Amino acid sequence: MIKPFEKPIYVTRPFLPPLEEFCQGLSEIWETRWLTNNGPILQRFTQELCNFFKTDNVCLFNNGTLALQIALQGMGISGEVITTPFTFVATTHTLFWNKIRPVFVDIEPDYYTLDPEKVEAAITPWTTAILAVHVYGHPCKLNALADIARRHNLRLIYDAAHAFGVKVDNTSIAHFGDLSMFSFHATKLFHTLEGGMLIFQEAGLKGIFDYLKNFGFKNEVEVVMPGTNAKMNEMQALMGIQVLKYLEEIIHKRARITDVYRDRLKEVPGIRLVPSLSPDISFNHAYMPIEVDEQEFGMSRDALYERLKQWNVYSRRYFYPLVCDYPCYRSISVNDPLTVARRVADSILTLPIYDSLELSEVETICEIIMFLQKGKDGLSRSTNAVKKRVRIK
Ligand SMILES: Cc1ncc(COP(=O)(O)O)c(C=O)c1O
Repeated sequence: MIKPFEKPIYVTRPFLPPLEEFCQGLSEIWETRWLTNNGPILQRFTQELCNFFKTDNVCLFNNGTLALQIALQGMGISGEVITTPFTFVATTHTLFWNKIRPVFVDIEPDYYTLDPEKVEAAITPWTTAILAVHVYGHPCKLNALADIARRHNLRLIYDAAHAFGVKVDNTSIAHFGDLSMFSFHATKLFHTLEGGMLIFQEAGLKGIFDYLKNFGFKNEVEVVMPGTNAKMNEMQALMGIQVLKYLEEIIHKRARITDVYRDRLKEVPGIRLVPSLSPDISFNHAYMPIEVDEQEFGMSRDALYERLKQWNVYSRRYFYPLVCDYPCYRSISVNDPLTVARRVADSILTLPIYDSLELSEVETICEIIMFLQKGKDGLSRSTNAVKKRVRIK
């Protein structure tokens, strides 16, 4: 008999460095009393990231959303931008805040990234850029998108919020396209509590981004553009330096968790896993998505999501609903039927994955899913029946 977990298993749990290490780092901040505004720890962290990514074109921010918002502003993107509706809502918000019209097109069914054919079909005289997302850390169709961008003279921007640590052909994912934004939010496998980073090709953008994140200040008396406040502080940078030391270990543990999930779930009727990634991709195992086929599994995705809570397992319907279906974006006309994105948004579920999740816990989560699939709990399969039974938090 499988028992529910005693403590809740959430979809993610942030990695924290040993407390003594963090306290040691804090003592430097207490000595200098330099808390923000390009302090010594931020400078050190920036240098470490420059070394890690083998480029000087790195700029740090207090979160990923403002990083991307500033990127679009600093690059002068305007008019229409072709993007995906299958993403976290912040991707689209950054367009909105820059008065850019999002043009939503469909995703491809394997890895859920922007479908290049649909991108090309959506280009108009007002299109200035493509904003693609490496969803769950899966690299987009890099060559196809680069080819479209080149032929149509468009900027190619990647929301790489999920993709820290991913490499393609031994090259960091950060080096594809004109610019990539990474989120260092606490829920990400690499984090700085909150934080964000831009990596870009054009060295000249660095100065602009630095102005824009610090009110436009050039010096004490000159403000050269109407910037905002999006600076990373010393505590964030300290967390970044310390978490970076453990990155390999974190990814390794996540890889083992992914292996167990994939092995146990691969033959469960009605559960679809993403196809294995091509061997030239070095992956970060940021998320563990599954698709639930209601007919075959015998239970809808929503019912499974609710039922898992009864076992103290908190998965996420990530991303559901599609961004274009949120009330604030519903008035934007969408020409693409978004067939794949709609199907995926209705069937996707991301399962718990984090470095401290025990492999035995992963085994149990899989056993619960198999148990539910076989209908051994004897409960009704319908979502409404489940919702009535489970108090929604
Ligand atoms: C795809 C995507 N884009 C943008 C963001 C925004 O990043 P942040 O939370 O650092 O502002 C997130 C995440 O949190 C995300 O998942």
